[in-house]
Formats: sequence, structure tokens, C-alpha cells
Amino acid sequence: MFITIDGPDGAGKTTAAQKLASSLSEKNEIFYTSQPSNSKYGAEIRRLLANTPSPDPRKMTGLFIADRAEHIKSEIKPRLDRGIWVVCDRYKYSTIVYQQIQGISKQSLIEGNQGFLIPDVVFILTVSRVEQLLNRIQSREKSLELFETREIMEKTLMLYAQMPECFPDENIHMIDAGGSADISVKQMLAKLNT
Ligand code: TYD
Repeated sequence: MFITIDGPDGAGKTTAAQKLASSLSEKNEIFYTSQPSNSKYGAEIRRLLANTPSPDPRKMTGLFIADRAEHIKSEIKPRLDRGIWVVCDRYKYSTIVYQQIQGISKQSLIEGNQGFLIPDVVFILTVSRVEQLLNRIQSREKSLELFETREIMEKTLMLYAQMPECFPDENIHMIDAGGSADISVKQMLAKLNT
């Protein structure tokens, strides 16, 4: 079973993904992982995000896609083949949303991510008001990073909301992350049990 969790910064995605993985590990062997991954491309992405005020969008897109290909091949697929459940924090939906915000066309991003393993279940965390994201981010960081201004967050939420229609054949569930991480996890577990 391949489960991915996506959503804007500040939606509590990483906490919820870890709690989901821990809850599922009571009954299944679980591999928890995230993108950008630890591949050489992932390392380059983190370096660019930390040191470059406006990293080149095409270069970033190429790196995220190369990182995803490598991550699937060397970490995700081998585990799924052994029956291990994989919970992945961020997947192709992040590239389609964030690199669109950086100015790359939706169509070329969808094409660039075509052929990657389709998750059995996709959870996209969302909130109804952008303030909920900003408040969470401001309480954990002194300054806002790339993709963390109010305007960008509104766009991020709007683009994530389009994912079910971009991928009508995929099993995508929008999760209301306005409450605690436990409430988000409860909604995800309910979907997995139906
Ligand atoms: P991440 O390490 O998941 O940060 P966070 O814990 O804040 O979610 O991701 C780092 C940044 O990379 C995040 O701002 C989103 C961005 N990103 C993209 O722009 N495209 C992608 O394909 C992925 C996977 C992440």
C-alpha cells in the first residue's frame, strides 16, 4: 500500500504523516519517508532552498523530478515489492502546485510527472482560512521562507484544491486540517478503513 500526504506548509502535514505512520504500524510494516528525499538531487534542492533567494524554476523542477525518480526506484518500489506499506510526506502534487507558483505551466508539470507510480491513496491536507497556516508557521519560525507569504499560500491552497480534477482517476482525499493533527489523522484512518 502506497500512501502519500501533501498540502501547504503550516497544515501540520509532517506531524500528521508521522502520526498516521505510527498508527498504521500497529498492524503493518511501515516505511515512512519524504520528498525531497535524501538522494543527491534532494541534497541539492535543500541547498538551493536554503541559500538562494529565488532559485531557478526550471532547474528546481528538473531536480524535484529527478529526486522523485531516484526515490521511487531505490527506496519506495523495493519496499512495496516486499509488501511493506510506504507513507510518503509530499509527492508529485507538491511539484505541480509549487513549481506552478514558480511560473512553470501546469501541463508541463503534469507531463513531467507522468509515469511515476500512482499512490493507492493520496491525502491532501487543507484549511478553509489561510490565517490558520500563517499562525502555525509564525509560531515555529522567526522568518517566512520561500512559498510562505500570504498571497502565495492562498494560491497554494487554490492549486491543491484542483488536484482531484487534475487527476480524476486517482484516489485523492481532501482532509480538513483546521483542527489538531490527531483530528487530521482520524479522518485519514477513516478513509483507509472504508
Ligand atoms: P519540505 O522539506 O517538505 O518542507 P516542509 O516540512 O516545510 O513541508 O519541503 C521543502 C520545500 O520544498 C517546501 O516548501 C515545498 C517545496 N517542494 C517543492 O517546491 N516541490 C516539490 O516537488 C516538493 C516535494 C517540495
